[in-house]
Amino acid sequence: MTSVLFVCLGNICRSPLAEGILRAKLARVGLDTRIGVDSAGTGNWHVGKAPDPRSVAIAAQNGIDLAGLRARQVNVDDFQKFDLVLAMDGDNLADLETLRTRSGADRAAALRRFLPEDVPDPYFGGPDGFQTVFDMLDAGCGRLLRTLTQDV
Ligand code: 4NP
Repeated sequence: MTSVLFVCLGNICRSPLAEGILRAKLARVGLDTRIGVDSAGTGNWHVGKAPDPRSVAIAAQNGIDLAGLRARQVNVDDFQKFDLVLAMDGDNLADLETLRTRSGADRAAALRRFLPEDVPDPYFGGPDGFQTVFDMLDAGCGRLLRTLTQDV
């Protein structure tokens, strides 16, 4: 069993979209019950809220339903629960590294950037930003799926 946690700042734009995209790709190859996928935010402003309507819309245009997702804040236990924790940008990675250092976890998840470049925060921009984010996440999840399927 491999499990993946996507992390952004608010858990309403980028990471829930990444979660939905990877879940859909896993379902297509019949691995959705074997690989756990979740998402969380480093911040707590949106805890309990549904994903941003712009992420919901772009997901829906691509046949992906984000409706059931609710934002939560990442916590120290996540470093024990997940095999792989993937940060959307350098700030998220730095915040996660601080949290991980504080956690003193015996079994620490692998903590990495999801992509070599930052997935830009689309929250304060227009719809084009969500298209850019979708394309980056879709390509990245395609590559991630190939890596994960080598392990199962
Ligand atoms: P996310 O986007 O980190 O991709 O979910 C953001 C959502 C909310 C805020 C910032 C980024 N905010 O400042 O409230």
